[in-house]
Amino acid sequence: MLNKKVKSIILAAGKGTRMKSDLPKVLHSIFNKPLLGYVIDAVNNTGNIDENYVIVGHEAQRVEEFVEKNYINSKCILQTPQLGTGDAVNKATPYLNDFDGYVIVICGDTPLITSETINNFIEYHDNNHSDLTVMSAIFDNPKNYGRIIRDKNNKFISIVEEKDATFKQKEVKEVNAGIYCINWKTVSPAFNFIKNNNAQGEYYLTDIVKWSVENSLNVNSYILDNNEEIFGINSKLQLAQATKIMNRRSLQRLMEDGVQITDPDSTFISPETEIGSDTIILPNVYITGKNTIGRQCKIGPFSHIRDGAQIGNNVRIGNFVEIKKSIIKDNTNVSHLSYIGDSELGSKVNIGAGTITANYNPISKVKSKTIIKDGANTGSNSVLVAPVTINEMASVAAGSVITKDVEAYSLAITRTPMKVFSDWVKKKIEQYSGVNK
Ligand code: UD1
Ligand code: CA
Repeated sequence: MLNKKVKSIILAAGKGTRMKSDLPKVLHSIFNKPLLGYVIDAVNNTGNIDENYVIVGHEAQRVEEFVEKNYINSKCILQTPQLGTGDAVNKATPYLNDFDGYVIVICGDTPLITSETINNFIEYHDNNHSDLTVMSAIFDNPKNYGRIIRDKNNKFISIVEEKDATFKQKEVKEVNAGIYCINWKTVSPAFNFIKNNNAQGEYYLTDIVKWSVENSLNVNSYILDNNEEIFGINSKLQLAQATKIMNRRSLQRLMEDGVQITDPDSTFISPETEIGSDTIILPNVYITGKNTIGRQCKIGPFSHIRDGAQIGNNVRIGNFVEIKKSIIKDNTNVSHLSYIGDSELGSKVNIGAGTITANYNPISKVKSKTIIKDGANTGSNSVLVAPVTINEMASVAAGSVITKDVEAYSLAITRTPMKVFSDWVKKKIEQYSGVNK
């Protein structure tokens, strides 16, 4: 148990110029989830933080929309103009006036941070009865980071930004990771004293360290174990690098749980996908969003599972199959070239190659459901126009367009009868060879 309550301030007002994008930086996605979503989830999943303040500025409305739609415990606070990280955190002051607890400050563009690290950090702060704890990291190449400055007794006394640092300070390899735990009552008065007389003309949050030391508060640093966790995204290149790291972690976790992944280099599976043991994932599979996949399934090669799939045991999802928001029960096969969206498939269903659930009306924008019950099957190249139900053990003939429900144990077929014109080709050949001569 912690001695005090914890809230967080998440910094997300910056423009992210280097992304070269119309989209605000923190709304860029990895596995269809915005960077900011990963940070808020990591904070919420600590189980120790009940409320978050997200500081928004650049494209504030869009960021706010995302936060409000997805996180009831998070409030956005507008910062315009963006005068620096110190100014950003200070924007939350009116909401925290009487708060006698800890405030975690974290950036909205570091999607690889884990709840475990945040919790260890809070516990370290709490156990040390610290007023201010700064997360630090040791970097071989500390360029662009604020440096952790210590006095001759090795006591942490300030942070100096790269642009304000002397040559000697620039040699320091311990940097400010940009995550802080603040005892709000004792440290927040610092915001009345922070000035912007520095190289960037900004109000630096980092200046609360010096103020706290000068006011004899208990200031500590906490060295991060794995530098990967504070990897911040500033460019599309870094976005791709973070995606790789997140994917590597996700595949590693799945393999430890007994999932067989043939080629981790060509397989992408979101961290929010659960897969049972002895399921085999073949190369070039891409799985985003939140999904559950059972045991002993075979997925791939070249399958795309988009979000909200609930797949049972011993299910086969084959090549060039896309699955979206669908329930698929045990022992069912969707082996080739199919789209299954907004659907419920029972067990022992067999979906023929090229079966499409036509779930979307682009004019009304309405999505409808396709239900296929136990033991039913569809022939190759059938289109199931939703809303529609194929009942138990029913059969849909190849090439059919199904627009009405199909009764159990019946065959549905929508094909013009086949006609054969004997010797038609022969006659044509004779006709044209006569012309040419
Ligand atoms: C900051 C730290 C630096 C640390 C680094 C770690 C300061 C002064 N420096 O530098 O010591 O090593 O983070 O990544 O804090 N933001 C706002 N409003 C603002 C300014 C920034 O919300 O007015 C947000 C940005 O969107 C970003 C975060 O704060 O998410 C960090 O801001 P940035 O200017 O990038 O800080 P750094 O220069 O990287
Ligand atoms: Ca800056």
